[in-house]
Amino acid sequence: PRRLWLSRHGESQFNLTGQLGGDADLTDRGMLYAQKLPSLLKAALNGEDAPLTVWTSTLQRTQQTAQYLPYPKIQWKALDELDAGVCDGLTYEEIKNKYPEDFYNRDENKFEYRYRGGESYYDVTTRLDPIIMELERQENIMIVTHQAVLRCIYAYFMNVPPESSPWLDVPLHTLICLQPGARGTVETRISANI
Ligand code: F6P
Repeated sequence: PRRLWLSRHGESQFNLTGQLGGDADLTDRGMLYAQKLPSLLKAALNGEDAPLTVWTSTLQRTQQTAQYLPYPKIQWKALDELDAGVCDGLTYEEIKNKYPEDFYNRDENKFEYRYRGGESYYDVTTRLDPIIMELERQENIMIVTHQAVLRCIYAYFMNVPPESSPWLDVPLHTLICLQPGARGTVETRISANI
């Protein structure tokens, strides 16, 4: 891509309660981010009106976040959040109590740990392959997706070893711009201060 814009969805009800996965709606604060996102992007584009397409996952919270962006949109199932399997809807605390061994194993090898009935980060990088291939052919794309998925996409473009991706810092309410170039990818982060 010429420029790749990345953002997590705005704060969701599950972010507030600390629950994993699900298909929750945005909170009021998350909605504020959705409303601010178009102007944040516009300011970052600096008057440039090159065509841009917005890619979201199929989950409510990414679509709600992208709803005010005045660009064509495409939903990808491959951009849905890492599937936490039997732990979907639980908090880390609940997982620790219910599946203590899993909780420990995940910490030991977060990249390869696969939730029972769900996915690992490795699985996510594999299902992102077609997305990455398509991205390489595209010009300006904005992706609104989820923490684990963004970590994997970010790691790919920033040349971070995939094994390190599960620990990358990708905060809420922050617009990341990646500009691949001959001397590597230039990164800019803009916080929405919400
Ligand atoms: O808490 C938000 C979330 O996107 C969950 O849905 C997901 O399971 C988690 O983050 C991924 O982060 P980590 O791999 O650090 O648990």
